[in-house]
Amino acid sequence: MLDCMKNSLSHCLHHPLAISHCVCVCVCVCVCWGESSCCSKQQAATNTFSVFHMTDLMPVKDLCVVSSLRGKSGSVKNPLVVRGGRYRPPNCVARHRTAIIIPHRHREHHLKFLLYYLHPFLQRQQLNYGIYVIHQAGNYTFNRAKLMNAGLREAMREEDWDCLFFHDVDLIPEDDRNTYVCDSNPKHAAVAMDKFGYKLPYKMYFGGVSALTPLQYLKMNGFPNNYWGWGGEDDDIGIRVSLAGMYITRPSVKVGRYKMIKHKLDKGNDVNPKRFNMLAKTRQTWRLDGMNTVEYEVISREYLPLYTNITVNIGTEAGLHPPRPPPKRKRD
Ligand SMILES: *[C@@H]1O[C@H](CO)[C@@H](O)[C@H](O)[C@H]1NC(C)=O
Ligand SMILES: *[C@@H]1O[C@H](CO)[C@@H](O)[C@H](O)[C@H]1NC(C)=O
Repeated sequence: MLDCMKNSLSHCLHHPLAISHCVCVCVCVCVCWGESSCCSKQQAATNTFSVFHMTDLMPVKDLCVVSSLRGKSGSVKNPLVVRGGRYRPPNCVARHRTAIIIPHRHREHHLKFLLYYLHPFLQRQQLNYGIYVIHQAGNYTFNRAKLMNAGLREAMREEDWDCLFFHDVDLIPEDDRNTYVCDSNPKHAAVAMDKFGYKLPYKMYFGGVSALTPLQYLKMNGFPNNYWGWGGEDDDIGIRVSLAGMYITRPSVKVGRYKMIKHKLDKGNDVNPKRFNMLAKTRQTWRLDGMNTVEYEVISREYLPLYTNITVNIGTEAGLHPPRPPPKRKRD
């Protein structure tokens, strides 16, 4: 608690506005008080977060990164994170078990930013959590949604997570009140990204970062497996939510803020030209394609200091082991 006071008070003293300065000091005293009591045994852990948020992130070029993905250096700053990127609060029993699922290929650079911010963020929320990077093997067109299906199954094999956060690698949460726990309905967390002027781009938007319990996930038959390339799959997932009789919940735009690390469209992730046709058919396809049909094979599983790297072969449109090599794509 003393450390907490020291940190938060120094944070408050640098607060630019006198009045919020005052409020800030009061709040931080309360929060730190709360922190000490929440860490008594068995008590609910996640209702006393730090109220300090990073609404004014530095320009992207000044953002910090972990210095290496494989070495031990990241764990110096996160001494309680154990092999595979797992953490549980040391002094209390966490009320929530959250797995972060990050679909990935050729984005090591972004991953370094994300891990730098995400670990301390999740620890301040006193979660029991694990970070899974689901790496698509090979060079075939990227398939974000299918990777997430594979990620859910592999993560659940390891622990009885009660909430799955499906997380793009280039989005950094900016506000500690954006709690990485699930709701009674599927939650869309990336409400306000700097890229869209910190506004929701459209009402059914479900991209970026979303959270489902395993039951919610199964109820909507998971995510589609057949969206190869960029775009569409997040809208399909949003439609599945309502077809399965659920609705989308969201934090407020003040809280669901994210900074996007800028990048060009990746190689091997061209825009999916079929996406609009496919979306028109989600009503007919959602029960036929999803968690009940996902096929993939795990190629390797690495427990690194800050994350678990699960590399999967998800095949191509022609299946897991296409009879002949797929036609060479121009931009691969
Ligand atoms: C993927 O592409 C890279 C370079 O573009 C190449 O070096 C590598 O061998 C390819 N991998 C496979 C599995 O085809
Ligand atoms: C994950 O493992 C695969 C296979 O060993 C490797 O090619 C890839 O670079 C790793 N990715 C990360 C982010 O560690």
